[in-house]
Amino acid sequence: WKAVILIGGPDKGTRFRPLSLDVPKPIFPVAGIPMIQHHIEACSKVPEIKEVNLIGFFHYTEMLKSFITMAKQKYSLSIKYLSEYGPLGTAGGLYHFRDQILSGTPEAFFVFNSDVCCNFPLSDILHFHQSKNGDNRITIVATEATHSESMSYGCLVEDENTNEATHYVEKPETFVSSLINCGVYVFTPDVLRCYMAEVFRQHQEESLEMGMGDSNFPDAIKLETEILAGYAGSGKMFVYKTKEIWGQIKSAASAIHANKLYLSVYRRTKPEVLAKKNPDGPIIRGDVFIHESASVDPTAVLGPNVTLGENVEIGAGVRVSNSIVLSGAKLNDHCCVLNTIIGWKCKVGEWSRVEGTAQQPDPNAPYSKIISGQLFNEDGRLIPSITVLGREVDVAPEIIILNSIVLPNKNIHANSKNQIIL
Ligand code: GDD
Repeated sequence: WKAVILIGGPDKGTRFRPLSLDVPKPIFPVAGIPMIQHHIEACSKVPEIKEVNLIGFFHYTEMLKSFITMAKQKYSLSIKYLSEYGPLGTAGGLYHFRDQILSGTPEAFFVFNSDVCCNFPLSDILHFHQSKNGDNRITIVATEATHSESMSYGCLVEDENTNEATHYVEKPETFVSSLINCGVYVFTPDVLRCYMAEVFRQHQEESLEMGMGDSNFPDAIKLETEILAGYAGSGKMFVYKTKEIWGQIKSAASAIHANKLYLSVYRRTKPEVLAKKNPDGPIIRGDVFIHESASVDPTAVLGPNVTLGENVEIGAGVRVSNSIVLSGAKLNDHCCVLNTIIGWKCKVGEWSRVEGTAQQPDPNAPYSKIISGQLFNEDGRLIPSITVLGREVDVAPEIIILNSIVLPNKNIHANSKNQIIL
């Protein structure tokens, strides 16, 4: 068995800015470790999985290299970065690197979207996949979403007796099903060798006929629309339903949501990594993760759903809740940080308030869409309800910043509300 993580490439949109200016999104830390380390850690717990391939079109920078070196050592797995020359699409990357993926004739391989948060019940999924007979099988992990949310995802219809996926529509315009694709799959090698090969051959022929040159690869081919939609109803695609935590990490706000979900998983699976209540230490409310190198004044109040990164300093009387504080940041005495991501090496002055309202948007508003707890306007633009400070932002004392996005290296001396500070 092997695993592939589709890590994509540099952020085109703005939803993860300014954080993605400083770190490739797949290695942005959520609940104390890079986003895709959660996937890799889950793989390392399944003895059948020996190799993890990261496929994407990021430059292979020092950051990615050192992440891979660290993860290889920590999890004793073979981990490789396979670099696309450009965005080949979710199916294109898999097909392009088919020889590497199929080398050593694995029985099957997992495929993960990098930007999903999940507790990854991989052993269970593996057994489910093995329990279905026949060649050329795909298993799709699925979960229930609300009616309105479902249309932002791949939607599945399942035959409940056989678990076969009878219908698949990617981001439908009208309601299809509330069962959605979680971006976690198992493929048997033949799917890549036969069905996907055939789809790619047809695309190539079409692009040649249309005089689009003889490139080996047509433009980005999407797994969801080109492969899964066509495979549904074949009797070879199965739905594994999970009721466990699941979320997408597209925006900074959804990273705060994912942080909360992963901390709840820690509480169930490895409570020892969470901060303990201690009469002499800071007051801890709910799930809080504190890096061992962080220093926290005993009069601070932390939680719920807080992660403090490496070398973070928390002063006296500081209040932090529902937030991620990235490495090297310093929160000075009596400041208050709620529903916020504090970027690397930021400083927040004494008695300042840095907050998001995290208001629950009105789900019935006709003009908006809610995805992973975040409100988007009719053009698909995120309406912030959290605050994000980019790297090395310095907030002066006694300042209020509410629902704002602040780009890196700014000195903030005035209050701000609902602003993007460039
Ligand atoms: N290697 C590579 N190359 N990866 C890519 C490419 C590419 O050209 N394009 C996207 N990806 C990666 C992204 O980084 C992400 O991890 C994953 O593939 C899916 O990204 P999108 O194509 O942006 O799709 P989506 O997130 O809007 O929807 C997908 O995920 C949902 C679950 O989170 C679909 O699979 C939906 O059906 C699904 O419900």
